Formats: sequence, C-alpha cells, structure tokens
Amino acid sequence: MSEYVIDDREMPRFRVNRKAMIAPEVLAEERDLIFDHSWLFVGHETELRKPNDFRTRRVAGRPVIFARDSAGAVRVWINSCPHRGAMLCREPAGNGRFMTCMYHGWSFNNAGRLVSVPDDASYGPGFDRPGLASPAKVDSYRGFVFLSFDPDIVDLPTYLADAKEYLDLVADQSLSGMEVLPGAHEYSVKANWKLLVENSYDGYHATSAHQRYLEMVLAARGAIDPKALGDSRGVDLGNGHGVVAGGPSTGLLFGRPLSPEAEVERDGRLARFREAYGDAWVDRMTGGRNLVIFPNLVVIDLVMGVIIRKIDPVTPDYMEVTAWQLVPPDESADLRRQRLDNFLTFWGPGGLATPDDVEALETCQKSFASARELPWSDISRGMNKPVVSANDELQMRTWWRRWNELMTGEKLPPENHDPIDGVFAGRRTASQMEPTA
Ligand code: FES
Ligand code: FE
Repeated sequence: MSEYVIDDREMPRFRVNRKAMIAPEVLAEERDLIFDHSWLFVGHETELRKPNDFRTRRVAGRPVIFARDSAGAVRVWINSCPHRGAMLCREPAGNGRFMTCMYHGWSFNNAGRLVSVPDDASYGPGFDRPGLASPAKVDSYRGFVFLSFDPDIVDLPTYLADAKEYLDLVADQSLSGMEVLPGAHEYSVKANWKLLVENSYDGYHATSAHQRYLEMVLAARGAIDPKALGDSRGVDLGNGHGVVAGGPSTGLLFGRPLSPEAEVERDGRLARFREAYGDAWVDRMTGGRNLVIFPNLVVIDLVMGVIIRKIDPVTPDYMEVTAWQLVPPDESADLRRQRLDNFLTFWGPGGLATPDDVEALETCQKSFASARELPWSDISRGMNKPVVSANDELQMRTWWRRWNELMTGEKLPPENHDPIDGVFAGRRTASQMEPTA
C-alpha cells in the first residue's frame, strides 16, 4: 500500500497523507514522475494571432517560447540559448522573425535555426551549428496547445481520454471558434499546488466558503429556487482527469443578471447552437462544468464566463496561478462587458470568490505544520453512492489515484458507480461541426 493514499472500498474511506503537501522530496519527485511524464498545457492557439507572434512562459519550471513561425505553424522552443545558456527571449510577448541572444549575439529564426553568429569564422567550417531545443512533443486539441517532455508518452487524444468531450462542450460555444482575450490574471497562493487542483472542482465548498458572493448574486437576481439548480454529476474521465457538470441551464444562473437585450442575444445564440449541434448537446452546454485535466490544467465554464487556469508549483507551500478568459469572438459589446464583469467579480484575484478560496487553501497549508499529529485528509464523500453529484469528491479521488500511480507504481481501480445517463450523456448530433483536431 502506498504511503500517500488509503483507498478502502469496504468502509468506504479515501484518505490522502498530508506529507504529500509539505515534503520537499515529494515536489522533487512530482517534477520527475508527474510533470515529466504528462501532457502539459502551454497556451491557446488564439494567443498567437499572426505569423511571428510569440509569448514566453514557464511550463513545468522550464522557460519556453510559445510562437507561431513565419509559415504560420505553432512551435514551442526551450527559452535557453544553445551557446552558453542565456535566456534567449526576455519579452513576455511580441512579434518577430528572429531572436538574438543578449549575451554573445547568436541569432535564431522562429523556425529554430541558428542564422547568425558574430565572428563566425573562429568556429571553422565543420562547426555543427546548434538550433533551438524543443520539448519532445507538442500537439493541440480544439485550440488548446500541450507539450510533453516524455518522448514515449501516448498521443494527446489518447491521453485526454473522455476529457476531450468536455473541451468540445467549451470549444463549441462559438460557431466561429473560441478565442483567448489578451491579458491574464496572475496570482500566487501560499499553499501546495494540489490544494488548488482539488478546490477547482470542489462543489462542496461553494455555499460555505463563497457565502458572500452568493448573497451578492441573490441580491441582484432575486431568490433562486434551489430546484432550478437541478441535478449535477461528478465524473471520472480516465487518466486522472475529472469533471463536475451541472444539469441544463444551471450555468445560466450564475453571475450577475444579464440586461434584457443581452438575454435576447444569448437565447438567440443558444437557438443557433441547437440547430448546429442538436438539443442534447446544448442542454449539456448550458449546464456549466469544472474540468481538471491531469495534472494542472483547469477549465471552468459557468457559461457566464470560461476560464483556463494553469497551476504551477514553485515550492511545496507556494504556487503560481495564471488564468485566461476564453470567449466567443462573435458576441455583442454588452454580453462581452457582462462576461468580463464575471471574470473580475467572481474569478479575479481581488474578486468576491477567489480570495475565499485562497484564504481556505492557505489555512490548510498552515495547519499542515501539525501533519505528524493529524496526518490524513479525508476525501471520501460520495464513495458509496450509485450516482455521484458535483458536491461529492469522486473527481478528486480520480486525480489522486493517477497521482499515486505515477508516484508509487500502485494502480488502484476506478470506482463503480451507475453509468452516466440522461442529459449528462447527451451527444452532439451535427456531423459538420466535428472537431477539427
Ligand atoms: Fe547566447 Fe552566448 S549564451 S550567444
Ligand atoms: Fe471556490
């Protein structure tokens, strides 16, 4: 049995050892065994609109250049000069065909080729001119670009397993393709990165931790009949991925109310989607979903706004978070304004919900100082239920079983629950809208 996870199906009981959240050696092993053997989110294709656009960011601690080359292909380069290591590109974003190293002036084109070396003759004619290094694999699905440092990893569609369908539900929310808006929320939390993974699809905490936000929404909208919130599900999507999904129209109840004009526009959009994809798919679409793609990508789609969240461990008790907003480019200024308002007031680091989560996570981390006296956290909720809801913890257990497998080699079988049915299984019907990836 692993030292990190107790998975007792008889009792039933699922526990995680708090050592996983505090030990430096655990983070070092996570870098080797998890981040070096997963597909990791780099960015969205629409962040690179034109040929020669680039952005720099960190993926699994490595500085990378996320770029569109002159021919229009998306590339990812390691942001380190092959000469003696200086960071090649030091701008957060820009547009250019060449990158020149500030240290000794070597110059590379955006296809990775070394094109100019000062005082070239000193190297002699046989010198093997090194190009830029790239990660072992780069691929994309519905605009989401991933890399892997593992040359032997399964292909991206296989890795994503049933999570693909949930990315489709998000990507289908514009008939002309969703796009990432310029700008991002960047913030840090003094807590272990896995606590935010758990929190990102934890339905159970919403009414207690976010009481103030919910009061604001209720004050703006009038009372919401709890029955209108409908049903929800937690789903194991395979390979450590998981989701909590709301029933039809649940997503439309979040956020501040739309203006009457914006409501008409939104209903018109949904009617067009019904024509394009069929009712079953659009009923699912309006439910909203919190999706985690193992290990550190979160997509939260509450219909009133969609965020892409990337969670990066820095030390065992400190993480950095980046959140982008994914929008339909073909909506009116009015709908866009209300979407941006939700991005700020709900998800913003200074908004009415994220500070609650940050506070909760930071108090967990502080209390883990007593991990010797209280070593285990409990994640058992819903283990014995035939039908698992968003307020249960199946999705987290799914994640932790994959984590445990990569860290220790112990493979724990998935849980048995009733198959997903009804609206939660509705499929897209229109063939002309099949994913392009
Ligand atoms: Fe880049 Fe020397 S380190 S040119
Ligand atoms: Fe929260």
